[in-house]
Amino acid sequence: MQRFGGLWVVLLLVVGFSLSKAVEVEVHGKDNKTCIYAVLSVNFTVHYEGNGTMENATFQLPNSLSSNGSICGDNNSAPLLKMGFGTGHSLSLNFSHSAGIFSGDVLTFTYNTSDAKLFPGAKNTSVKRVAVNSLMESVPLNTIYTCRSAKAIESEAVAMVLWNVSIQAFVENGTISKNESFCKADMSTTVAPITTQTTSTLTPTVTPTKPPPAVGNYTLKNGSDPCLLANMGLQLNLTYTDDNQTRVINIDSNSNASGHCGDEEATLILEDIDTTIQFRFIVEQSKFFLKGVKANISIVINGSTIALNSSNNNLRYWQASVGSSYMCHKEQRLMVTDQLVVNAFNVWVQPFELKTGTFSRAEDCKANENYIVPIAVGAALGALILIVLVIYIIGRRQNRSNGYEQF
Ligand SMILES: *[C@@H]1O[C@H](CO)[C@@H](O)[C@H](O)[C@H]1NC(C)=O
Ligand SMILES: *[C@@H]1O[C@H](CO)[C@@H](O)[C@H](O)[C@H]1NC(C)=O
Ligand SMILES: *[C@@H]1O[C@H](CO)[C@@H](O)[C@H](O)[C@H]1NC(C)=O
Ligand SMILES: *[C@@H]1O[C@H](CO)[C@@H](O)[C@H](O)[C@H]1NC(C)=O
Ligand SMILES: *[C@@H]1O[C@H](CO)[C@@H](O)[C@H](O)[C@H]1NC(C)=O
Ligand SMILES: *[C@@H]1O[C@H](CO)[C@@H](O)[C@H](O)[C@H]1NC(C)=O
Ligand SMILES: *[C@@H]1O[C@H](CO)[C@@H](O)[C@H](O)[C@H]1NC(C)=O
Ligand SMILES: *[C@@H]1O[C@H](CO)[C@@H](O)[C@H](O)[C@H]1NC(C)=O
Ligand SMILES: *[C@@H]1O[C@H](CO)[C@@H](O)[C@H](O)[C@H]1NC(C)=O
Ligand SMILES: *[C@@H]1O[C@H](CO)[C@@H](O)[C@H](O)[C@H]1NC(C)=O
Ligand SMILES: *[C@@H]1O[C@H](CO)[C@@H](O)[C@H](O)[C@H]1NC(C)=O
Ligand SMILES: *[C@@H]1O[C@H](CO)[C@@H](O)[C@H](O)[C@H]1NC(C)=O
Repeated sequence: MQRFGGLWVVLLLVVGFSLSKAVEVEVHGKDNKTCIYAVLSVNFTVHYEGNGTMENATFQLPNSLSSNGSICGDNNSAPLLKMGFGTGHSLSLNFSHSAGIFSGDVLTFTYNTSDAKLFPGAKNTSVKRVAVNSLMESVPLNTIYTCRSAKAIESEAVAMVLWNVSIQAFVENGTISKNESFCKADMSTTVAPITTQTTSTLTPTVTPTKPPPAVGNYTLKNGSDPCLLANMGLQLNLTYTDDNQTRVINIDSNSNASGHCGDEEATLILEDIDTTIQFRFIVEQSKFFLKGVKANISIVINGSTIALNSSNNNLRYWQASVGSSYMCHKEQRLMVTDQLVVNAFNVWVQPFELKTGTFSRAEDCKANENYIVPIAVGAALGALILIVLVIYIIGRRQNRSNGYEQF
């Protein structure tokens, strides 16, 4: 019964995607059981030296592929999916797994500029190779990674766009899983499958409910001392002008944090693959607050990647006294521009004057302005956190009655 279920998914994928020229590949092990399964569409653009001028070769991953050279993988070798086509071209991806998850590791594109069909007039005829980190996110074993959104990868002379991707490595018992693990980009919103025609019955639709963002703990350091701390979960609500549709994106809590600390100005930059968001804090009259937000986001709309840049440097959110931290546990919707609203969850920030390397006394967004409780500076970390928590709880209780709220 389970086998049948797996097969059904395969059929569905093949039929559902064939309109968009998705390619299906299966790698079988010695026992003839499927060990790697993939469906994907790839557009390649290769910049090469032609007859006197630089040329761009553009082509798609063709339907006729050979999986020759693929490896199922065992205790000593990682699985490798190799998709060979034409005369000496191939796209391969190897996989790794640990603790119940698997992910794509390195994506290698090999191309042969001797192939006059794809590279007419190429001056340097040779086999070239580019290797990039695959953009495949880690997903649980025995689930099929699915990413309908387009992802662009560029390296040296090669640009690849991958979309309508479904991949499962480490397939158990030869049964392709029915459980899909969607990529981050697909989770953002309803992604329309990229097909040239729409068939009402087989169109796969994705309408996942948006989970709240994970809280990231971001730290900037000045030498070895923390100088800016920000614990928060962030979600961006984007409105794109064309059709007024909105798209909600969660910021990865493992985003890389950078920026700079200063006495009266500090910036925190969070970056992941598709998103860069910058927060600018300033000090005015012994108060600090969030003055600017700037975001550069790549989103995929109808199959094309669009850069969305939004900034506002005249905001006033997250205000607290210099020397304190700002805390807010309720969800906040920070209006940045007509296109961008930042939804912030469980915010705790301190961009200035970190005396002990940890958060100072917190001013809670629910507390009265003048409700301030002094704390012995230099208290041990555990004690400090405990006290801050207690103050927070008291603050909450007191305020339940007066209902006064501020950002
Ligand atoms: C494995 O597949 C090949 C070709 O598809 C077939 O000839 C062979 O009989 C199969 N072997 C087993 C054990 O199923
Ligand atoms: C290269 O360009 C020159 C002049 O444009 C032309 O005469 C020659 O035939 C071209 N060679 C090839 C291989 O296309
Ligand atoms: C090739 O592509 C690059 C970048 O995509 C572009 O800047 C360049 O103009 C293209 N060249 C030609 C000859 O189309
Ligand atoms: C697969 O590769 C091997 C050696 O690399 C070769 O001998 C064999 O002919 C290839 N098979 C196909 C179907 O291309
Ligand atoms: C792989 O390792 C597991 C446990 O370490 C062992 O039971 C299994 O026999 C090994 N398989 C191979 C093919 O070596
Ligand atoms: C590259 O392409 C040329 C011409 O099509 C072919 O003769 C050659 O064997 C190819 N190289 C490889 C490594 O496949
Ligand atoms: C995948 O291939 C790359 C380069 O070919 C290699 O550096 C990397 O270690 C491989 N990953 C695994 C998990 O084997
Ligand atoms: C041709 O390409 C190869 C591989 O990228 C490179 O090593 C070689 O230097 C190139 N030759 C010329 C004349 O550009
Ligand atoms: C694979 O087969 C084993 C033994 O029949 C079973 O315990 C296991 O649950 C199966 N795994 C999957 C993913 O179907
Ligand atoms: C982040 O900091 C909070 C306190 O604000 C703590 O409860 C949580 O465990 C930290 N998370 C990580 C992953 O360090
Ligand atoms: C995103 O913005 C739209 C339009 O302002 C609003 O209707 C929607 O509720 C917002 N969604 C979230 C999760 O903030
Ligand atoms: C892929 O290339 C085809 C043909 O060049 C084009 O129509 C399509 O829009 C491209 N898709 C993406 C996602 O770039």
